[in-house]
Amino acid sequence: MSQLTHFIDTQDFSKDELLKIIQLIRIIKEADKQSCTPKLLEGASLAMLFEEPSTRTRISFEVAMTELGGHALYLKPGEIHLGARESLYDTSKVISRYVDVIMARTLKHSTVVELARTATVPVINGLTDYNHPTQVVCDVVTMLEHAPLGKKLEEFNVTFIGDATNLASSLMMICTQLGMHFTFGGPKRYQPPEAWVKIVEENCKKSGGSFRVTEDPVDAVSKADFIYTDLWWWVGQEAEIPERSKAFMPKYQVNMDLFKKAPSHCKFMHCLPASRGVEVTDEVMDCDRSIIFDQAENRLHTEKGLLVYFVYPRLKRPSKELQAYHKGRIESYFEENFPS
Ligand code: CP
Repeated sequence: MSQLTHFIDTQDFSKDELLKIIQLIRIIKEADKQSCTPKLLEGASLAMLFEEPSTRTRISFEVAMTELGGHALYLKPGEIHLGARESLYDTSKVISRYVDVIMARTLKHSTVVELARTATVPVINGLTDYNHPTQVVCDVVTMLEHAPLGKKLEEFNVTFIGDATNLASSLMMICTQLGMHFTFGGPKRYQPPEAWVKIVEENCKKSGGSFRVTEDPVDAVSKADFIYTDLWWWVGQEAEIPERSKAFMPKYQVNMDLFKKAPSHCKFMHCLPASRGVEVTDEVMDCDRSIIFDQAENRLHTEKGLLVYFVYPRLKRPSKELQAYHKGRIESYFEENFPS
């Protein structure tokens, strides 16, 4: 199986490839739990480009790189030229000459796609206005760890309640790619667009999964093994808050009343950051069936798995003899030019 270079969209990968990535993440997590994370990326560098703020993505990628023996650079707007003062093409080519991998959180999906098209090192998508693939791979890892007794991945019922966000798009795609049964519950105006529905319906034909959309949140959660929600509004949508609040509140808030309508084993998930008391209540966030902090921790293990999957096979491993030869040449240079 030949590997793809970039991680931009789970749709670029087959079910088998996604499962192989997930297997690697789980192997590395087990090593980490025994304080045995191998330094597989020793000497490697990661450029982290952020056009938006981040807690989880920024910290988990940097710590992952450090624990794998590498180094991460945090590059935010105002610090580098990213489509301003020089072309994105030039920036992408130049960064590729310095580092072994790029992770980018960009405002527009087209920016990360263009980075991947032009970079000569792997590019990992750390969230765009369209999708959030690293998050949803982490979410599947988390679901597997909290699988309802006796259920296989292909039997999981996953329900997303709320707005058709970039997270929702990625989640419905990966779940249906892997053969799960996905329900979206939200008001008509904020349901997934036709283009996304077409993709997930194709996924279901191939995988045996299923997909449905409903305006009824109680119906949506009735068989759920996992209920997932996300913010109802984002930075830049402040003017829409009254309208959005009216559309979602109180019907689509994940509170104990709604959570109790799901099977008693159902777990609560949120990619965070959350607006407590808005799309979800404290009572649900902090209950013993909430797995939000396991999910957040798994971002670290997921980033390690992704970095190793995409970078490790590309690293050059020169022989000890070659290393000694070059060290000797540098030592000779100093002996010849600066004799003691
Ligand atoms: N879930 C997530 O991507 O969080 P951050 O925005 O904090 O990175």
